[in-house]
Amino acid sequence: MNKEGAGFGRASCDACHTRHLFSVDEARQPEACQTCHMGFDHPQWEMYSSSKHGVRYALKVSGRIPGDSAAPTCQTCHMQEGNHEVRTAWGFLAVRTNGLAPYPGESESWWKDRITVLQGLGVLDPQGNPTNRLEMVKNADVARLNTESFDQERARMLKTCMQCHSENFARAELSKADKTIEDGDHLLAEAIKIVAGLYKEGLLKKPAEYKYDFPDLLTFHDAATQSSSACS
Ligand code: HEC
Ligand code: HEC
Ligand code: HEC
Ligand code: HEC
Repeated sequence: MNKEGAGFGRASCDACHTRHLFSVDEARQPEACQTCHMGFDHPQWEMYSSSKHGVRYALKVSGRIPGDSAAPTCQTCHMQEGNHEVRTAWGFLAVRTNGLAPYPGESESWWKDRITVLQGLGVLDPQGNPTNRLEMVKNADVARLNTESFDQERARMLKTCMQCHSENFARAELSKADKTIEDGDHLLAEAIKIVAGLYKEGLLKKPAEYKYDFPDLLTFHDAATQSSSACS
């Protein structure tokens, strides 16, 4: 995991305000985030620039709509009042727990699916016990591991939407997004269990570098693949 981290790096000061200018105006533009937040495995730029928010921002900059039109940027939602913490409720990995218990109010089935996802991430072992990777996830701060840290970020985001939208609208839209994660977790858990089953039955050869009889999601695109001839 360290190997992968070094390749991407976290945003250093000059990632948003480039070295000689060190311009606040430059850092405030969504393009300052585009360099890193794009592409097939984290297409935040593509999502933003094709959304109503991003389209209005582009039209505003090109002068097609008035310069005072409301159009949130990445920074409006993620760096409220210039806050450099840049932290979200769901975090980079879209998992949440309450000290390895379900987040209050979520369904039993969603929690079960998330346990499977956490096992796929190698944060829990196949028996459901925490592994060393949990420490790594904690240190990298890529997931919210207690109810308070999720709720705090969610409340801040809700307040941001409410600069322009009604509370009911904003809550409903954020719940839709949560539901997408729930549905996604279900599909992912199903797939993880199928592949884990194939490893167990020996129908699929487990890559040597996988510690457990589970697919290791954090190998990302470096995952070992089997050619179709090897399966036949
Ligand atoms: C993720 C992008 C990003 C990174 C990384 C970043 N900044 Fe900023 N910075 C911004 C934005 C956006 C603003 C403007 C905030 C606002 O609207 O007031 C800003 C504003 C500032 C300001 C001006 C504050 C003020 O009140 O005028 C300073 C100073 C600053 N950043 C220093 C730093 C330092 C030092 C680092 C590294 C530790 C850093 N920034 C890393 C995006 C970034
Ligand atoms: C140099 C590359 C780089 C730039 C530029 C950059 N980021 Fe990031 N950002 C990352 C990486 C890598 C992560 C994931 C690792 C992490 O969470 O620390 C991340 C994580 C995030 C997260 C998720 C944090 C969480 O865990 O909840 C948000 C939100 C975010 N960035 C917003 C921004 C915004 C807004 C800008 C522009 C103002 C920006 N980033 C610019 C590299 C970058
Ligand atoms: C209208 C507000 C809004 C704008 C504009 C916006 N985001 Fe987000 N972003 C969100 C919300 C809401 C979430 C999910 C937060 C949560 O966890 O509840 C999120 C999540 C994220 C995450 C963490 C989840 C993930 O995909 O890894 C990153 C990174 C991120 N946004 C980057 C960006 C970048 C970069 C831009 C601009 C290109 C941007 N966002 C524009 C509201 C916004
Ligand atoms: C700076 C103002 C601003 C902020 C902040 C903002 N929005 Fe928007 N949003 C707009 C504008 C303007 C539109 C276009 C609405 C219109 O006039 O049709 C829009 C459109 C939308 C749409 C599409 C609506 C539709 O009817 O198609 C959704 C969904 C949305 N916003 C959700 C959110 C959420 C969720 C947040 C907070 C995470 C948020 N917005 C934050 C200004 C904002």
